Amino acid sequence: MNEQHLNELAAGIMTLIEDEDPSESNIGVRGTVLINEFLRQPGVEESLAALDVEKKVRLWGNKGSGMQILFHGADTPKKGSPHDHGQSWALYFQVSGMTKMTTYKRVVGGSGQPGEAVLEKVDETDVTPGNAIFFGPQVIHSTQHPSPPARWIRVTGTDLDFAERLRFSIERKEAVIEKKN
Ligand SMILES: [Fe+2]
Repeated sequence: MNEQHLNELAAGIMTLIEDEDPSESNIGVRGTVLINEFLRQPGVEESLAALDVEKKVRLWGNKGSGMQILFHGADTPKKGSPHDHGQSWALYFQVSGMTKMTTYKRVVGGSGQPGEAVLEKVDETDVTPGNAIFFGPQVIHSTQHPSPPARWIRVTGTDLDFAERLRFSIERKEAVIEKKN
């Protein structure tokens, strides 16, 4: 992977939120344009395609803090449970294949609080190549990859492995604090 292209992408995204809070209009819209430009740089798509996505790959960022650019993949059908990203924002950008993204509203239980939780589905979107979906803090969502292979880039405001966030069980009607990896 060409480090220079990654550094330019990261710098470009950080510039978007230098004087503004992360939002749909800066990260969501302009960040998506920047990632599309990044993918058009020579060699980038080939380098991404060659990555082993058994686990998430950190493309850019320091473990533990600060913005992260991650690469994920699904080669078999996958379905994740609803979760939030705590206080972090996130951009899910589709590189290839499709992510079925569901968002939820919590109708029982306090925002960001573990314990009893009832979720109501708000929206379901198929995120397709070149497109992305932006989430502000504490937006509850789940991903599905019913028709692999799929590859996506996830940009987060901080390293989620070190952030307190919630994972939800629809069956058990509860939210638990996500264990650190
Ligand atoms: Fe997520």
